[in-house]
Amino acid sequence: MFTMYFTTLLALSAGLYSATGAPNVKLQLLYESLCPYSRAFILDQLVPTYAVLNTILDVDLVGFGVAAKANWTKVTNPDGTYDLTFQCQHGPQECIGNEIHACVVESEPIGRALTLFGCMYNSTNYKLPATAAKECSTKLGFNYTAIDECASGPLGRGLHLRNGERFHAANPVAKTVPHIVLNGVFTQAQNERAEKDLFGLVCDIYTGKRPEQCPVSM
Ligand SMILES: *[C@@H]1O[C@H](CO)[C@@H](O)[C@H](O)[C@H]1NC(C)=O
Ligand SMILES: *[C@@H]1O[C@H](CO)[C@@H](O)[C@H](O)[C@H]1NC(C)=O
Ligand SMILES: *[C@@H]1O[C@H](CO)[C@@H](O)[C@H](O)[C@H]1NC(C)=O
Repeated sequence: MFTMYFTTLLALSAGLYSATGAPNVKLQLLYESLCPYSRAFILDQLVPTYAVLNTILDVDLVGFGVAAKANWTKVTNPDGTYDLTFQCQHGPQECIGNEIHACVVESEPIGRALTLFGCMYNSTNYKLPATAAKECSTKLGFNYTAIDECASGPLGRGLHLRNGERFHAANPVAKTVPHIVLNGVFTQAQNERAEKDLFGLVCDIYTGKRPEQCPVSM
């Protein structure tokens, strides 16, 4: 019991603070799985940046959609239980993609999840997320049956709903995606830089000793 508590504390602090004691940069990404700009950000900025700066960067992925274009509806099943249906900006395939992402994030360390999403977005089948996820699971050693079981079932819908609530609660509101929040802050200027140079931006925001992989600061 004590050991468990202690290990949890250690694991928590390891996630929050890097070796130098400065807090990690916290990146929250609000995105839509089939939005071309979200795809470009994850593929060209987030995956390569995380691969190098993962010891100083914490990533929180919230895949859903901007409020005017994406939402959920509560439906009553014939047996009286409740369920949810979703509407996504880029259609039903985007909802499937969001659910696959949410399920993988829930069950895998973020670095591994990002590797899978990078592979999926690089696939010629990226607009069919289930096909891409199956392909990439085989390639990278993920259990696609388990991913599909979550994504096609009530857990996937529950995780999608949670992301929808978090997305719609963003302050300021996410009007476009990718919407990138760094250490709790969103600004348009910062977002534009992140879409072009996330690596340099994370280096500059980090308050600890500048990692040697970072460009020399001005
Ligand atoms: C989204 O759906 C919820 C519940 O069904 C509703 O209360 C809310 O007004 C909807 N939001 C938008 C932007 O349509
Ligand atoms: C995607 O493919 C490009 C071109 O082959 C490659 O350079 C890049 O590393 C790949 N990205 C990921 C995340 O797999
Ligand atoms: C993959 O996941 C399924 C569903 O959860 C499970 O039944 C199966 O044993 C898993 N396979 C492996 C190799 O872990």
